[in-house]
Amino acid sequence: MGSLAGKRIVLGVTGGIAAYKAVEIASRLRKAGAEVHVIMTREATEFVTELTFREITGQPVSVDMWQKVANFNVEHIALANLADVVLIAPATANILAKISVGIADDMLTTTVLATKAPIIMAPAMNTNMYENPVTQKNIGELKARGVQIIEPAAGHLACGIEGKGRLPEPVEIVAAVTAFMTGKQLLSGKKIIVTAGGTIEPLDPVRYLGNRSTGKMGYAIAQEAARQGAEVLLVSGPSNLPNPVGVRMVRIQTALEMQAAVQAEYTEADAVIMSAAVADYRPKTVAREKIKKSDGKLVFELERNPDILYGLGQQKGQQLLVGFAAETCHLEEYARKKLVKKNLDFIVANDVSAKDAGFAVDNNRVQLFFRNGDSEKYPLMSKQELAKIILNKIAERMS
Ligand code: PMT
Repeated sequence: MGSLAGKRIVLGVTGGIAAYKAVEIASRLRKAGAEVHVIMTREATEFVTELTFREITGQPVSVDMWQKVANFNVEHIALANLADVVLIAPATANILAKISVGIADDMLTTTVLATKAPIIMAPAMNTNMYENPVTQKNIGELKARGVQIIEPAAGHLACGIEGKGRLPEPVEIVAAVTAFMTGKQLLSGKKIIVTAGGTIEPLDPVRYLGNRSTGKMGYAIAQEAARQGAEVLLVSGPSNLPNPVGVRMVRIQTALEMQAAVQAEYTEADAVIMSAAVADYRPKTVAREKIKKSDGKLVFELERNPDILYGLGQQKGQQLLVGFAAETCHLEEYARKKLVKKNLDFIVANDVSAKDAGFAVDNNRVQLFFRNGDSEKYPLMSKQELAKIILNKIAERMS
């Protein structure tokens, strides 16, 4: 049984470019067991058709206040009464303004005014419109009246600029609705191991081989997992970031130390997320004293480090295993090979070919590949937002 079984959700869709994402929201809500009734504004029908929502939800779709209905019931009152929750996604600046002052001039706004159900709104619009003091005032007013606001994400917007205003991914919106309706943290009672940062492999007492990983991605995952109620162990290579709140830290330097720390708690873990950039090789010998300059070449012999994740995959029991693959080319081919070879549940293929994503920046651009062959491609997004998506995927697989 889905986590929203028996719940009736009125989904309001307004006229923004993100209206197409509401189709996936409706589909996910339905898969989670909810009965979904869609109300579209006239403007929304310019972006998506009523027919699409009717097919996805298996329910009639309302747009017009005055449409003839077979079974006469004052429809806005009927929907207002049956709703366990009203979700408006995307919510334009216009709908925020109308609802904040109580305008009721179409089916959606009339239903909102007439309902006693909780209201959740996911604003999505151009950054300047979002940041406009009038929009912010309306959002403040709505929050003060108890409306739940799902914050828009930052990223590349349809209008061509970068900034805040993008509708979060449908999986996140459905997770937020589920958390709100069930009052449950998605990962409470679960134990999750996260690895972060790069390992460093010493050459002598002062020098090492390392990589550019800062820990940003792994720390964001650890923080979000703790927020979702998990008991989190973060095994981190050297990083300047502050310890995430409510997370148990083990700081390590080398791949062998990371392996030992993860292995020590693997048996009791429900999931392991390996976002660390682990060195595949280490110097075969570590000089006891600082290596001095001399004429001619300096040659090091390197030996293989263990593949930590491969080892976990070999011993896999109940644990969900998630890997990362940072690639500059052949993203899908390489990621799928790692998924299979390392016996993972899914892999986060990280396109690090552009400067705006990957190592040492705040954003990632990823595609997820799953064991059953499915894949999901995401636009550039913050590491915090990606952390939520990864953890929602894990929670879905645990329920
Ligand atoms: O820390 P940031 O600055 O935020 O950067 C984050 C990141 C870019 C490092 C991160 O998002 C990322 O993509 N990590 C994967 C790095 C990578 O290239 O992994 P890989 O393709 O070498 O390895 C694949 C998987 O096996 C990874 O989950 C890795 O943790 C694991 N692995 C790799 C080698 C090894 N010896 N043992 C392992 O367990």
